[in-house]
Amino acid sequence: MSRSASWRTHACGELRGGDAGAEVVLCGWVANRRDHGAVAFVDLRDRRGLIQLVADEDASGGIDQALRKLHPEYVIQVYGRVRLRDEANRNPERPTGDVEVVVDKLVTLSRAERLPFEIQDELDVPEILRLEYRYLDLRRPPVRRMFELRTQANHSIRSTLIENDFLEIETPLLTRSTPEGARDYLVPSRSRPGSWYALPQSPQVFKQLCMVGGLDKYFQIARCLRDEDLRADRQPEFTQLDMEMSFVEEDEVLQLVERVMVALYSDLRGEELPTPFERLPHAEAIARYASDKPDLRNPLEVVDLAGSPEQPGPAGQLGFGVFDTVLAKGGWVRGIRLPGGAELSRKQIDSIEQAAKDAGAGGAAWCKIGADGPTGPLSRFLKEPSGAAFIEALGGQVGDLLVTLADAPRRALVALDAVRRRAGELLDLVQGPDRLLWITEFPLFEEFDDGVWAPAHHPFTAPVSADIPLLQKGVKEGVRSRAYDLVLNGVELGSGSIRIHDRELQQSVFSAIGLDPAEAQRRFHHLLEAFRFGAPPHGGFAIGLDRLYCLLFGADSIRDVIAFPKTATGSCPLTEAPAPVDEEQLQELGLALSALPSDPSTSQAEAGTASQPS
Ligand code: AMO
Repeated sequence: MSRSASWRTHACGELRGGDAGAEVVLCGWVANRRDHGAVAFVDLRDRRGLIQLVADEDASGGIDQALRKLHPEYVIQVYGRVRLRDEANRNPERPTGDVEVVVDKLVTLSRAERLPFEIQDELDVPEILRLEYRYLDLRRPPVRRMFELRTQANHSIRSTLIENDFLEIETPLLTRSTPEGARDYLVPSRSRPGSWYALPQSPQVFKQLCMVGGLDKYFQIARCLRDEDLRADRQPEFTQLDMEMSFVEEDEVLQLVERVMVALYSDLRGEELPTPFERLPHAEAIARYASDKPDLRNPLEVVDLAGSPEQPGPAGQLGFGVFDTVLAKGGWVRGIRLPGGAELSRKQIDSIEQAAKDAGAGGAAWCKIGADGPTGPLSRFLKEPSGAAFIEALGGQVGDLLVTLADAPRRALVALDAVRRRAGELLDLVQGPDRLLWITEFPLFEEFDDGVWAPAHHPFTAPVSADIPLLQKGVKEGVRSRAYDLVLNGVELGSGSIRIHDRELQQSVFSAIGLDPAEAQRRFHHLLEAFRFGAPPHGGFAIGLDRLYCLLFGADSIRDVIAFPKTATGSCPLTEAPAPVDEEQLQELGLALSALPSDPSTSQAEAGTASQPS
């Protein structure tokens, strides 16, 4: 096989009319071959696009024969000359469509067997097959496009942050546990049997240590690893844009993140994002939208119908047993008015109720408002005058559908969010430009169903100064934090906070979440120790880049913007990881396995969940 000193002179996709007459050497994959009787055409593909190859009609016929023997996805090198196509044969759909390359030498560099699927833009095969042969999937132009965009986006981020005097610092992957609320992936140490590294759930502690190290402004496009139940917008390993700054208040962090986002929208989409982004305090977001990540493109709002013991709301006046029982237990009764929703079919309304049930609620009570009054399941409890007051509280008008939910607060919250989303879809309300939103004033702690209090963000988040005395008295409920989240169209893109930089305060937060001083010292001595030697006030933020890029590039799923993603059960169909290891390797690590549970990665369910939509 003869080779030129340089493999190629041009990329396939870059040839244009102006190159006519040029002698070129090209390399690429055979995209297809078309035999037109006397002539055979081959499309050659590389990352930059397709070019048509043809044999010279006057040549001996050897090249024509060689072109006819090519199969899809053979890798070839061709020597030839660029020729303008006849006017009638030009292809305006293709950037290289004015020209073709007349081949005078062809070298087959690598043969290809029959592929499990064709390399074409539109493909109707199970996602699991695409992931198993992801290197073939990556040859498809729309898939490759995501990584061109990802490169531009990472470049935009780096430019903005470097212009703003940030240092790009890499932090360790083999480290200790970082509490971001998920389980750790553990790596056994060979040199110290019985000891384990934890893979970082985020670089949180290290970026704070960079601030103690005087680096002032840090960023990293960081890999994070979390062993948690996967959902459509989660991956076990994902990438964050992680940032931290010293001597800053909330506004400075928010403004910096806005600068990054404005540059991204401008560089990637040519769009100008309005700043400052909208802000909504956490309590208001919950009250109006039943969500800490509301999609503000959806105008539907939630109305409280329970009221308070001092000022009871209209729900308790109806004589509706379901409402009364929930109210007696201190639960929520809240509703949503769907303007024009009386037009919805029974099936559509059932799907709203189903959304509430899927979210854990018992159901949803609804009524339509007609010219002759309310109809539907709730209507029989809406007698005068209490019924009118109830409808009025919801702002109900003729032609509307009113949907109400009564349940324990946590369940009602999740279900109301689901109802609001489903109703927004059915009424086609979710429209208009991207809505970026800051959620501010998060509580410092959250109470879980089992009564356990945990940090709403992570335990390094600073409380609002005025609430520190409450914390010191052991109060958890109502203590406000200096945390903020960024939300885009109903998706939590990122979160951050002003941090604690004082050792005693850090210890009181650890105690509040049940970490006694000895345990806190054992797990976080490196941070607590650092705080003894001059820690600057600092704060930061992290954006989930896979989630952001999925939305920014208009991808269908978070997996589409990750080169080698995992399935919904956390496995990699390409490498078949996770996989058993040799007994010898275990012995070296001082490990022995107890009885193994059955391996879910081989079950049929895997394939189904792998293609779940986002
Ligand atoms: P948090 O845990 O909120 O904060 O993570 C920040 C953002 O990372 C993204 N994200 C994920 N993306 C894909 N798959 C996952 N499993 C996943 N988990 C999180 C989300 C999320 O908003 N150290 C803090 C940040 C800080 O305080 O500076 C942190 O990691 O978009």
